[in-house]
Amino acid sequence: MNTTPPTSPEAIEAAWQQLAAHHQEIGALHLRDLFAQDPQRGERMHLEAAGIYLDFAKNRLTDRTIALLLDLAQACGVPARRDAMFRGEPVNATEKRAALHTALRAPTGTRVVVDGVDVVAQVHVMLDRMADFAHRVRTGQWRGYTGKPIRNVVNIGIGGSDLGPAMACEALRQNCHGGLHMAFVSNLDPADLFEATRCASADETLFIVCSKSFRTFDTLTNARAARAWCVGQLGDERAVANHFVAVSSNAQAVAEFGIDPRHLFGMWDWVGGRYSMDSAIGLSTMIAIGPDNFRQLLAGFRAMDEHFLSAPLHQNMPVLLGLIAVWNNNLLGAETQAILPYSHALRRLPAYLQQLVMESNGKHVSASGQPVLRATAPIVWGEPGTNGQHSFFQLLHQGTRLVPCDFIGFCRSTTGDAAQHDLLMANLFAQGEALAFGKTAQALLAEGVPPPQVAQRVCEGNRPSNTLLADALTPFTLGALIALYEHSVFTQGVVWDIDSFDQWGVELGKVLATRIAGELSRNDDAAFAHDSSTNALIHRYRAAIRTLRPSS
Ligand code: F6P
Repeated sequence: MNTTPPTSPEAIEAAWQQLAAHHQEIGALHLRDLFAQDPQRGERMHLEAAGIYLDFAKNRLTDRTIALLLDLAQACGVPARRDAMFRGEPVNATEKRAALHTALRAPTGTRVVVDGVDVVAQVHVMLDRMADFAHRVRTGQWRGYTGKPIRNVVNIGIGGSDLGPAMACEALRQNCHGGLHMAFVSNLDPADLFEATRCASADETLFIVCSKSFRTFDTLTNARAARAWCVGQLGDERAVANHFVAVSSNAQAVAEFGIDPRHLFGMWDWVGGRYSMDSAIGLSTMIAIGPDNFRQLLAGFRAMDEHFLSAPLHQNMPVLLGLIAVWNNNLLGAETQAILPYSHALRRLPAYLQQLVMESNGKHVSASGQPVLRATAPIVWGEPGTNGQHSFFQLLHQGTRLVPCDFIGFCRSTTGDAAQHDLLMANLFAQGEALAFGKTAQALLAEGVPPPQVAQRVCEGNRPSNTLLADALTPFTLGALIALYEHSVFTQGVVWDIDSFDQWGVELGKVLATRIAGELSRNDDAAFAHDSSTNALIHRYRAAIRTLRPSS
């Protein structure tokens, strides 16, 4: 392992200045020029790891750019920080914790010791318990209160306790148990739970309440409503024992809620919420796809971990992907990044990556509390192809903003017709090409487009993209893909010198919501001490509910 620590702030700043000067030199080059100067560029600028092929040739950069970005990564101490993370050092500085999601997929026999405890051994004990439980649910051995097997599994959780399992169950639907219906309830809006339970019978429904903290208001509110629905249908509080299990690191709160401690699947404070889909938070995923497929998912994560840990920086896919994001963000000034899976099954991936990227790296101060010197995380958004092509791609091709894109596609469809899959992939390749090379006025005129119509049809091109290609969307590939983004996000966080593992920014809204919830339920006309806009909104809402719900 390379454990070179970060160099001085002066050396880091010098690396940034070198990049800025280099950007001045090559900033005017078009991707058309870069490919013309180096016709083999497309064959050279790729990497392969853990079954994923990354083509990064359609980025506005040269070999020199990459060399300078790698210098920056070295100066910032990316290898040393990476190694510290894998060793279980408290890289989550503000919470003084390790960030050991990599231990969740470490093989048996690996030792990672935190506070004197081998956490990998703990992980494998938990995986075995999860597998046993998943097997019992899948085979009908786990019975509901009236003796019926489970047919509906409802995961109640939010953020990292929802997005990963929800995304994975969609992505791996082909691998899912045909007799189980999976639902994911996250939103505090009662409509979410209502939809999930509308056609279900309580006696065949299992709720998995997922909350690392077991303090999240949204999740606990939904869990209480689910319990009321279940007990209401089954007529006995004792039914909770058959129909509720929990995933949490807060055993006391789980017991207070009324879930049998034997039905608690634990997690640890060294697993961050948005990095937890392969912890017990993945219980619903394991029930859906089965323990063997879940282990394949973990193997995919692990394969990318091993690559991240061992590949030299210039061949290291997560490092490169992270540095390209830094280049696009800080040197090219791109404010957003589009995630465009050409896979219907990956339709929840953009939402998953929004939390991973934006909650991890949407920070305004460094790990030591100093204002950051440069823009941090981009705004992540996206939709699967080809749907996006018929809605927002217009802006990608001809809008005034630069939006780097990650295209994700597979050589083989796991579901449908091969010829139709070829059409899907033809569209993926076409979009990357069109964004990079565009269409000039000369080309349009040569095709006979009347001169007055040319301007509207010009696509200037020079719009960067990465393409990620794998054989098929399998549990292994999904694991590798998610680990790739996790480590890319980590690399960016180190370069920006921020703590990618805390999320203090979400707290203020929670505190205010609790206060306002109390104010909404009050019956007096006391003045509220918010700003005049918020006061007016609360008064208007209260007046409306008095009219619309006279009994409340
Ligand atoms: O509010 C943000 C957050 O803390 C996320 O970081 C987390 O994934 C989510 O809420 C859910 O937290 P918990 O699993 O503790 O309910």
